[in-house]
Amino acid sequence: MAINRRGKATPMTCVVRYLPADIEVTANSGVTLLDAALDNGIDIPHECGGNCACTTCRITVREGMQNLSAIEEVELEQLDTAENRGPAERLSCQALLRLGSVTVMLIESGTT
Ligand code: FES
Repeated sequence: MAINRRGKATPMTCVVRYLPADIEVTANSGVTLLDAALDNGIDIPHECGGNCACTTCRITVREGMQNLSAIEEVELEQLDTAENRGPAERLSCQALLRLGSVTVMLIESGTT
């Protein structure tokens, strides 16, 4: 939480830009990229329900990787099961927003 000018705690917010639709949303720090998308009507497939047990929620981080939580071993192992995996991919259900802005590209569904 940040402290505003009146001394009240406010949630720290992040800005996420989802491509290719080019939709920009604001979300609180600590929210996953998946939840920030779903909360704003952006549909990202998530077959396992956000439990790090599939790769349907993969996204490519175009900018702001440093503004996301560090990748953990369980996420890395799951990503390694994906075909044609790119270097800047994350599972949107595991990547937590920290501070600042992030730009991500949704990956076509059907590639698990
Ligand atoms: S929804 Fe299955 S790993 Fe993210």
